[in-house]
Amino acid sequence: MRIILSESTAEAVSAVTTILMDKIQAEPSSVIGLATGRTMEPVYADLVKKEANLKKTFFFMLDEYMGLPENHPSSFKQYIKDHLLNPLMLDESQVAFPPVTLSNGGEHYERILTEAGGVDIQLLGIGQNGHIGFNEPGSTKESRTRVVRLTEETRQANQSHFGMEEMPREALSMGISTILSAKSLVMLATGKSKAETIKYLLNHHDDPTCPATFLKSHPHFVLVLDPDAASKINLKI
Ligand code: GLP
Repeated sequence: MRIILSESTAEAVSAVTTILMDKIQAEPSSVIGLATGRTMEPVYADLVKKEANLKKTFFFMLDEYMGLPENHPSSFKQYIKDHLLNPLMLDESQVAFPPVTLSNGGEHYERILTEAGGVDIQLLGIGQNGHIGFNEPGSTKESRTRVVRLTEETRQANQSHFGMEEMPREALSMGISTILSAKSLVMLATGKSKAETIKYLLNHHDDPTCPATFLKSHPHFVLVLDPDAASKINLKI
């Protein structure tokens, strides 16, 4: 695991986009796993600002809410269209979206991931409870893409786009094992609200109460932190 401690949020964001753009410049047809959430918005804005050439790149979305009508404004599909595809004039066919309407959506997604040769770089944020994608506490290290039930804490954290009434209760998410299959992982955490989570992550291993700890066994895991997210780091050595 490699940790990049940045001196500002902008520097942390730039560290992430530099990793991505270097990879894509070297191998334009790379496969990139995309995450959503507030943390990732400046990452996509930076790729747009830097006019990243992603025309030959293929993308897999990490997760999607279940039960939303097609093109719901708060779906992750719409999020990535708004933040990345439309501004860079990329084609929707460059992205695989979790097939939330299929009864065997998880298996189907795993199959197309395998057919694409797997993910080269998986981008990740982290939930306050340590979830990655929508792998909530209690998820196993062996989990693959499947329908998951969201915790009340996660529903609360993400409800601003919906209101609590309409906030979905389930999602289709890549599993921990699916995420660990990517050739490299790049996690970005910013802001004070993630400081305790990052402290916990750094002090625990393979702890199902904080699913992000499973990633620490990956040989190419880069954790990028801004000063606020790193503000409670206190490694027990
Ligand atoms: C959602 C997404 C995750 C994301 C997390 C954190 O739950 N499924 O991929 O990492 O939110 O979101 P934020 O960056 O808004 O804190």
